[in-house]
Amino acid sequence: METKIYQITSQAAGSDIIKQAASVIRSGGLVAFPTETVYGLGADATNPKAAGKIYAAKGRPSDNPLIAHICSYGDLSDIAADIPPEAKMLADMFWPGPLTIILKKQSSIPYETTGGLDTIAVRMPAHPVALGLIRASGCPIAAPSANTSGRPSPTLASHVAEDLDGKIPLILDGGEVGIGIESTIVDLTENVPTILRPGYITEAMIKEAVGQARTDPGILCADAAIRPKAPGMKYRHYAPKAELVIVDGEASAVIQKINTLVKQQQSQGRQVGVLGTDETRGAYQGAVFRSIGPRKDEEGIARHLYRVLREFDADHVDIIYSESFFTPGIGQAVKNRLLKAAAHQVLRV
Ligand code: TXA
Ligand code: MG
Repeated sequence: METKIYQITSQAAGSDIIKQAASVIRSGGLVAFPTETVYGLGADATNPKAAGKIYAAKGRPSDNPLIAHICSYGDLSDIAADIPPEAKMLADMFWPGPLTIILKKQSSIPYETTGGLDTIAVRMPAHPVALGLIRASGCPIAAPSANTSGRPSPTLASHVAEDLDGKIPLILDGGEVGIGIESTIVDLTENVPTILRPGYITEAMIKEAVGQARTDPGILCADAAIRPKAPGMKYRHYAPKAELVIVDGEASAVIQKINTLVKQQQSQGRQVGVLGTDETRGAYQGAVFRSIGPRKDEEGIARHLYRVLREFDADHVDIIYSESFFTPGIGQAVKNRLLKAAAHQVLRV
């Protein structure tokens, strides 16, 4: 299959390109499109065959459910049932935006979309191209991140092409995404709203909106006995091809430790990468160095993380040592993704 890539600006929400993309969605095909978090791989969420194509293109395990994207709050009751007041409170506060809520599903949504679950994940994205596509398609759009299963999520259209060229008919290229890390997921089918995946919207922000919130213990630790409730959070994910090890501690001790490790690895003939910040550029000897940006720019770190992990793949390194970037806000989502990419290998110095 030939994959077409169309550049589209945020102003072009009603354009011919959107109409063409919407007709692909309506006829049961796949379209990759930008959202404010990461690129999504979209299909008609009410069409079981179309949802099936997503799993095939990504190589995604069939028990890992998809997020349905809508363009107006009024469309929520078409796909979700037993909607509690918290849903409206969260939507008023954070939609359109990087928040996904889990609710009971309606019969309009097939089990192919929900990975066999009776619940549905729903989000209204804050990106004019995404909203324009959903509106023009006239259906909710099921969209996981548009990467091959297990690889870092795409923050540029070229990342989508890297993974899915020849497997899907159309990629809408809207440039670099704004946030760079997937949406926060909150489960509203529990007694207390429960965060199943951390993101730009923090637990504190959700508490402020609805009074109470907690985080699923399964996503915070490496203990395999405590299973995360979002099926997707149990896989090694977001991962570069090389082994990744995080070195955490006081700055000068981290630099010293990484330099020692680089020397050891090189003496065994291995190519080594180091993931640091603008401040530590030049501090490491003999490794392929990549900066995630200035350390104080928390949002920039989130936006650059997946791109930098993909760039290390092109460098053909065998092992990557990373500084830690675990600040309290979106840094917690960065921590979650980096720990998963590293399969929880952390050295404390
Ligand atoms: O920011 C985002 O959320 C992006 C953009 C494209 O919107 N989408 C995204 O989708 O990250 P995906 O498929 O890569 O991640 C969806 C996550 C998975 O971990 C999945 O297991 C979980 O959401 N999920 C989906 N439906 C669920 C449900 N009914 N119950 C629990 N977890 C669910
Ligand atoms: Mg994903």
